[in-house]
Amino acid sequence: MKVLFATSEIAPWVKTGGLGDVAGALPGALRALGHDVRVLVPAYPALLESFPDAEEIARPHWLGGLLPTPGLREAVAPDGTPLLLLDYPPYFKRPGSPYLGPEGRDWLDNHLRFGLLARVAAWLGSEASTLAWTPDIIHCHDWQTGLAPAYLHYLPGQLAKSLFTVHNLAFQGLFDHASLFELGLPDASWHINGVEFYGYLSFLKAGLQLADAITTVSPTYSKEIQTDAEGMGMAGLLRHRAADLSGILNGIDTQVWNPATDPSLLHNYSARHLEHKALNKADLQRQLGLEQRPDLPLLAVVSRLTEQKGLDLLLDVAPQVLAMPAQIAVLGSGAARMEQAWRAMAHQYPTQCAVTIGFDEALAHRIEAAADIFVMPSRFEPCGLNQMYSLRYGTPPVVRATGGLADTVIDAADEKHGSGFVFGPATAEALLQALQRATSAWQDPKLWRRLQKHGMARDSSWEAAARHYAELYQSL
Ligand code: ADP
Ligand code: GLC
Repeated sequence: MKVLFATSEIAPWVKTGGLGDVAGALPGALRALGHDVRVLVPAYPALLESFPDAEEIARPHWLGGLLPTPGLREAVAPDGTPLLLLDYPPYFKRPGSPYLGPEGRDWLDNHLRFGLLARVAAWLGSEASTLAWTPDIIHCHDWQTGLAPAYLHYLPGQLAKSLFTVHNLAFQGLFDHASLFELGLPDASWHINGVEFYGYLSFLKAGLQLADAITTVSPTYSKEIQTDAEGMGMAGLLRHRAADLSGILNGIDTQVWNPATDPSLLHNYSARHLEHKALNKADLQRQLGLEQRPDLPLLAVVSRLTEQKGLDLLLDVAPQVLAMPAQIAVLGSGAARMEQAWRAMAHQYPTQCAVTIGFDEALAHRIEAAADIFVMPSRFEPCGLNQMYSLRYGTPPVVRATGGLADTVIDAADEKHGSGFVFGPATAEALLQALQRATSAWQDPKLWRRLQKHGMARDSSWEAAARHYAELYQSL
């Protein structure tokens, strides 16, 4: 199959969360199965710097509305995946986050920036394209590319089918009615069966409504979002499309996330040499200014600090957790109030709680390796990658039973397979109970070893997911 990935992030160059990781690894896994996958992504500064010789191979004209004429540059990622860099400096040559301006607010022209990305994806899948390569499938990811199925649907000359993958239903890409014209969408698309959503233009809804098939990144999440409680306003539409909706569990990049070879670690280790994990813990305690205490369980968080991730629950019980006693290391950024609250916690408990506000890939790796217990009390979690990194790094996770967390972590109560600790209600009490279970299990080296080994033995490579996607492409 010839498949065009359309994405607004791609690791290691541009990443704000798991979407970047997926776009960075899944194409390679599909190519390993023999499929011809290429990735369309905006030419952000980090990509242009990494590929200064990327040559222009096309200039899509007459895209409609106020959309400009961009260039398409060709590059090849280190894993061999061809990249199509969507080059339009006024839109994409901006520093920092792909979505936010310097004040932390969405860029005001995000509808045009990501509308252009979607429009060019559709152009590549239509008769208008001047490239020799035409995809069979356009695989879109999240609201940023949700309009691609709409363009394919409403504009003539379509050659490709579309698949829309929901990584997070909470981000909906809502814009006002005037954007319809700016984006060159026809009036007929302003309809409940089109792109209109309660008086707004929703990029997400466009993808859900008009793609030929929909996937989410875990089976449990694909069911949860069909309920009114968790469907974020889209449940009715998703139930309507249930026959075209499925959940395919994400994998992880097992080369990048491998404790035996991870270059960010000072002490590499494997399931057979877990004793080296303790050296990483000592290093991290030193680096973060925590007390050198091998005898205290070190709990860790690497996360966006938002409502979704439920880290306010951990804040609520942190004093009790630290009194167990234990240590907590947090790496994250996001909502200003949450950042502030965590900073205050670290200030109050300087030897026991270390908080790093920011985005630091190497530190994320070191924390996964050093911690004893990883904490993810998410209110919802479409898939979640960090719990899988934790399993692989011998760091049993404490997770809430939601979405992909429920699909990847097996509670310690299951002696044969248990790999972590799973709790139900999104409350501070339930989290505290799970953390108590985890820290007391940690005191029992034999039991702990067993949990670690189960987690480390789990196959979390992309291969299984890639096979599922390939079957779905074929069926389309
Ligand atoms: P989400 O995409 O909802 O943020 P995931 O668990 O799927 O959640 O993916 C998060 C990814 O982003 C992981 O690779 C994680 O290591 C990384 N990450 C999140 N916050 C940070 C941070 N502050 N520093 C470094 N990496 C981070
Ligand atoms: C989203 C979700 C996360 C998922 C990631 C990659 O950001 O919040 O749960 O793992 O996408 O699919």
